Amino acid sequence: MPDHSDPQDADEANPRLSRRNFLQGALAAMSATQTPAPAAPAPQPAPPAPSAPAAPARPVTLNINGKEYSLSLEPRVTLLDALREHIGMTGTKKGCDRGQCGACTVLVDGRRINSCLTLAVMHEGERITTIEGLAQGGALSPMQMAFIEHDAFQCGYCTPGQICSATALLEEARAGTASAVTPDVRKETVFFTDDEIRERMSGNICRCGAYPNIVAAIRSVALRKG
Ligand code: FES
Ligand code: FES
Repeated sequence: MPDHSDPQDADEANPRLSRRNFLQGALAAMSATQTPAPAAPAPQPAPPAPSAPAAPARPVTLNINGKEYSLSLEPRVTLLDALREHIGMTGTKKGCDRGQCGACTVLVDGRRINSCLTLAVMHEGERITTIEGLAQGGALSPMQMAFIEHDAFQCGYCTPGQICSATALLEEARAGTASAVTPDVRKETVFFTDDEIRERMSGNICRCGAYPNIVAAIRSVALRKG
């Protein structure tokens, strides 16, 4: 005769085969396999590398604004720090100290450079001009005057770098040096359009956003002379 009894009843009757026992066993097995392994010890940070001993200071003579300065500088001293910390010329500003803002722009043999990115010892025998050296005989340079006339600054922190950069810009364009926006690089004459001025001044950041007045000041000098 066929057995019509409920299998669940059979499971309940045999505790070793009951569903509850099966599930309890499975859960126990799962929790056993999911027990996190003991954490590996955190790697120890490498001890800091011993810093290289500073190279000894050496005599350096810099020609700044037409005057010779005899200094004793470590070779790692930037031109910017030499100007500000060793000579006391604080007109050249330190903004980012990493070549991004242009606040430290000075002229070296007429070329504009970021003085935070170059070492002072590299400029012996060169003609360094800072914002303090642009005025002649007590008279402001045309670019300095134009910045005042066009109200081309607010806080003024970027202004020395802007004026040094703008001063060199005029000579670069007059020498026919093309920029990224010069329409025809084969032509020797560069016109001082606002696009040219903005592109050539793009390395000088103004946090106050005085750009329209800066461009107007530079344009006025460029058109006056050129
Ligand atoms: S301080 Fe030199 S570029 Fe900013
Ligand atoms: S005037 Fe303030 S950063 Fe240029």
